[in-house]
Amino acid sequence: MSEKSKLIISDTTLRDGEQSPGASMTRDEKVRIAKALERMRVDVIEAGFPAASGGDFEAVQAVAGAVRDSRICALARAHEQDIRRAAEALADAEAARIHTFLATSPIHMEKKLKMTPEQVLEQAVRAVRLARSLCDDVEFSPEDAGRSDPDFLCRVIEAVIDAGATTVNIPDTVGYAVPHQFAELIRSLIERVPNSDKAIFSVHCHNDLGLAVANSLAAVLAGARQVECTINGLGERAGNASLEEIVMAVRTRQDVFPCDTDINTREIVPTSRLVSNITGFPVQPNKAIVGANAFAHESGIHQDGVLKHRETYEIMRAEDVGWHTNRMVLGKHSGRAAFRSRLQELGITFESEEQLNEAFARFKELADKKHEIFDEDLQALATETSTELENERVKLVFLSVCSQTGETPRAKVTLSVDGVERHAEAEGSGPVDASFKAIEQIVASESELVLYSVNSITTGTDAQGEVTVRLDKGGRIVNGQGADTDIVIASARAYVNAVNKLWQGGSRTHPQVGGI
Ligand code: KIV
Ligand code: ZN
Repeated sequence: MSEKSKLIISDTTLRDGEQSPGASMTRDEKVRIAKALERMRVDVIEAGFPAASGGDFEAVQAVAGAVRDSRICALARAHEQDIRRAAEALADAEAARIHTFLATSPIHMEKKLKMTPEQVLEQAVRAVRLARSLCDDVEFSPEDAGRSDPDFLCRVIEAVIDAGATTVNIPDTVGYAVPHQFAELIRSLIERVPNSDKAIFSVHCHNDLGLAVANSLAAVLAGARQVECTINGLGERAGNASLEEIVMAVRTRQDVFPCDTDINTREIVPTSRLVSNITGFPVQPNKAIVGANAFAHESGIHQDGVLKHRETYEIMRAEDVGWHTNRMVLGKHSGRAAFRSRLQELGITFESEEQLNEAFARFKELADKKHEIFDEDLQALATETSTELENERVKLVFLSVCSQTGETPRAKVTLSVDGVERHAEAEGSGPVDASFKAIEQIVASESELVLYSVNSITTGTDAQGEVTVRLDKGGRIVNGQGADTDIVIASARAYVNAVNKLWQGGSRTHPQVGGI
């Protein structure tokens, strides 16, 4: 990369992103997202917090075993047990990182940790030393750095670098910073810490005031060379800095930034869709880069300008971030070879030939109903095929709904449960409600429906609806997905998918743990 320095992209969708309330991911879903991040050439993937639960440990282990081209990072509090657990989970990684953290702000030290600053400093150093004895790449975060005393921060940072930290990450944990002040903090830390040249300075900004991306970019201009971010800006509370916005701001404004990333930007939109589909967090239409309207021109003046010369109103090319302009890709007569080849072009791979065959059968079914199949349809189809779990206990066999003006909607459902067909009928306030009630009569999941969302995958009335259903059973949250040109069928499939996850223990991989 010529004379420009490299900006390291550390993605924390699988860790901080999963802390978004309800953004649950199973181990296999985390692996699918990690593979997409690897294709995008993300440098570091923070895969989870192994000490938080057995599920999170297994997810980090699975990601570490599946990804070869990105460094896999595991989070650990500054405790011996957490750090050893992180190292264990990372054992199979081609390149590993332990990320340990301890709060340094007066309010966190006094009220949460009940420790003096000297004790915090000592514990941070001990944690980094231990981590470094287990892994040659160690990141340390002084949690709530944005509200910490800069003099104390300088002492802690100098000490952890001496103890072996290779990356020092400055988190604005509560999203309190504003850009010029955060930039000044980063600049002064780099200037004042005597051994700052021995570590990469990183930032991790939360979006409580809507400033996460602005703060991160200001920090980059002040010398930070790693940004922690997430796909679609997912993350605790209002989320983290969004990866797509950071990457495209730096790429588009090379006249301003002294660095660039290695990200393959064409993977941005497919990865955004995948994350949205798996987590059940829709992307708002006006979201920068990945929103459906991000490259749409409504006003006549704009349309006219773009047709005459694209750059009159466009600062980026839609295709450079993975929006396809020529999107009609396959139809009813397309064969298996064309199907497989298009999936490969989209970076979609299946774990087995059986899954590919299953996806092809679904494609043929879809092509019978829908004249033109777009890339987005293929993505949804692939997501559905690979989110279906092995050993699914419940399958949707038959669904019929009757909905007419002046009548109460009614649904008849047949499910196969552990291989036995079961039937139910129910009324509801609408056809979806009636279908869910009929399914519940059979499965009796005793869960609460906490989210139901439908997204149109493409345009037109023959578009597939992509449905997410979120169920909560005593605090265990699962997301189910379904897609079909008939949104009632898509909804029933999503509900059944969620029930299967509940029954297979596919809940969020870790509960909230005090301290983060
Ligand atoms: O926001 C935060 O401070 C964190 C740390 C664990 C880096 O997520
Ligand atoms: Zn965070």
